[in-house]
Order: sequence, then structure tokens, then C-alpha cells
Amino acid sequence: MGSVGVFDSGLGGLTTVRAIHRLLPFQDIIYLGDTARVPYGNRGCEVIKRFASANARFLLGYKVETLVIACGTVSTVALDELRRLSPVPVLGVVEPACRQAVGATKNKRVGLIATKATAASRAYERTIAGLDADVEVFGNPCPLFVPLVENGRFRAGDAVIETVAAEYLAPLKAAGVDTLILGCTHYPLLKGIISDYMGEGVALIDAGEAVAAALAGSAVRAANENRGGGTTRYLVTDDEDKFGELAEIFLQNPTIGLVERVDIGEI
Ligand code: DGL
Repeated sequence: MGSVGVFDSGLGGLTTVRAIHRLLPFQDIIYLGDTARVPYGNRGCEVIKRFASANARFLLGYKVETLVIACGTVSTVALDELRRLSPVPVLGVVEPACRQAVGATKNKRVGLIATKATAASRAYERTIAGLDADVEVFGNPCPLFVPLVENGRFRAGDAVIETVAAEYLAPLKAAGVDTLILGCTHYPLLKGIISDYMGEGVALIDAGEAVAAALAGSAVRAANENRGGGTTRYLVTDDEDKFGELAEIFLQNPTIGLVERVDIGEI
């Protein structure tokens, strides 16, 4: 039974690793964070595809049995590309998150917050239209969320993040969405802030949790049921010390252990 390869543009994908740890504690994971080239979310499609392909090829070298794209931006921009190049199944966050959102909405008004590249891709709109043509999607890019979260500005009572969140979320609240997709790795850390602003009646769909649930629902789980505790290897393309520090916040686990720097040969 092999490992699952999880990758992200940086460390945000650890929110997905955390969700996988919770649902599949026996699963071995190899995590790759492309910290040398983060952020991807403000870049153009061709560059994102090139970076994503390099990440995927590198992880495939570890003989992983499934690739999980934790990165919202890569999932929306490069999924088809990665499926073409990968001999093993590739799971992205979009479809699992859309299925949960379509299941959750009662008024058929779903909000999406994500990076600029994800919002521009309209991947969520297309996928939701394929699942339920009556559901309307209201998207809004939130480019300041990633740097604010990475600088520790995600806690309730922080005037900066609360002001920025109010500005980004106001149009979605005005649109009357009853379900909101958190389409970026960093946003689970903002659940408290977002929920306080949107109100308790709005269901938050965590794209990382959704892809972890999709993984847990696949054959991987059955094969893992009888195994001992899983291990996770953390690989980054730059600045392993900073990754180690921030990882504790993203994983909500102070014992991340060794972080290895790797050269994926593309930089
Ligand atoms: N991981 C990215 C995402 O989920 C956020 C950070 C970035 O822009 O690279 O879209």
C-alpha cells in the first residue's frame, strides 16, 4: 500500500493534510509545498500549469498511488493537465467542494471565495452548473487573505482582517448566499471571522475537507483499515525553517518534525 502525494503552492495545503490525518489516520502521506514559487494565485494560467506539472512529476517519482491537489488555484487551473500526465488518480478540490455545496444549499445561491486565478477560471461555476443548473454561483476573489493569514492576522478581534473580510464578503452577503465555498487552502483559518460576518445560517464548505472526504471514500481507505499509524513526510522547495514554524498553525499540531528541502529541478 503506497503513499498519497499531496501538493500545494506552499504551506496552505497543510489544512488538507490535517483533514486527511483526521479521516485517514493510517494513511502515509508525502507533502510537497512549492515554497520557492508561492503564491500561485495571482499568476497566469500557463505559469500555474507549468509549476503544477513540475510538482506532480516530482511527487510521482516517489511512487505515490494517488495525487491530491490541495491547492485551490492548481485544482481550478491545471486539473486536466495533471490528469493527462499522471498514471495514478488525481483528486482536486473543486468537484468534492461543489458536490457538498450543492447538497448544502437550500436557496440555490452559493458563494465562492478564492484567489484571483481561481475566481477567473470559473471552474466552480462550470462544475456546479453540471451538478444542478438551478444553482447560482456568486464568486469574489480575496487576494489579501493569503498574505494576512501567513502573517498571523486571522484571529477574531483583529481589526485588519475583520475590515478586509467585511469588504470581500459584503457582496456575497448582499446576494443572499446560504452556502459559501472556501476555495483556497488558507481560508479554513478564517472560518471564525467569515462565519461571524456571514451569520450562522450560512454553511461554510471547506474545500480541503471536501477533497479529504473524497479520498477517504475511495479505495485507499479500505486498503488502509488494518494498518498502523501513518507517517507524513514534508518536502519544500525553499525556507524549511519558516515552513516548520507556520506549519504548526496550519496543522494545529506542534510536532511537525523534520521538513526537508528538495530541488524539483524547474526553478
Ligand atoms: N494554495 C493557494 C490556493 O489554495 C493559495 C496560495 C497561493 O496563491 O499560492 O489557491
